[in-house]
Amino acid sequence: MIEQPNDDAREREYPDPHEKNRPVPRLVLLVVSALLVWAVSYIFLTQRNDAPELGDQRTLSTLEGKPAGAGGAADGAQVYAANCVACHQATGAGLPGVFPPLGGSEWVLAADKLPVNILLHGITGKLTVKGTAYSGQMPAFKDKLSDAEIAAVLSYVRANFGNAAGKIAADVVKAERDAGKDRKDPWNGDEDLDKLKQ
Ligand code: HEC
Repeated sequence: MIEQPNDDAREREYPDPHEKNRPVPRLVLLVVSALLVWAVSYIFLTQRNDAPELGDQRTLSTLEGKPAGAGGAADGAQVYAANCVACHQATGAGLPGVFPPLGGSEWVLAADKLPVNILLHGITGKLTVKGTAYSGQMPAFKDKLSDAEIAAVLSYVRANFGNAAGKIAADVVKAERDAGKDRKDPWNGDEDLDKLKQ
């Protein structure tokens, strides 16, 4: 006769699981619905404190980096940093053999109209600066910078990098811009600019 396995093991186990009716406790329901009521009323009852007068007070011109106020007077240092640094460097010393220095340059320190015309129309060809010949391309800024910006950046250059020459007025830039309004080409280095010097 085959012996049946005894039931001990089965008896030792837990009873088979079965579903019981376990309702969510009243207290939990109460807490959840109280939270819900609080959340909804919070949205409707809370005072909005994002009134515009409490927010960011900066004007558009501040964010654009232009000083606020009368027509946004140009800041020469800023114009320089945005338009000239890549070539003439933050020190104004240029790069030997490639970009000429602005510090102590006879072109920067010449009569107002000379640097103004250099910025308006740009330069190509051979240009001698402080005894060294360069032959690069100086871009024209007449379509990029306003009269006030050209005046400001030149005034900045003439007062920094060891230079101590006078400011340049926006009127001078305007006059030279008008005088050269038909000019399309950049100045041809020493050849053109030496003539302008006289
Ligand atoms: C893409 C490079 C480049 C940028 C940007 C540039 N320059 Fe020049 N600049 C030159 C080069 C190159 C020359 C020399 C041109 C030549 O050799 O014919 C020059 C010449 C000059 C000169 C006459 C020579 C001297 O050293 O004094 C002045 C003044 C000058 N730049 C001012 C400026 C100012 C101010 C700005 C910014 C508004 C500016 N440049 C932006 C490349 C640049």
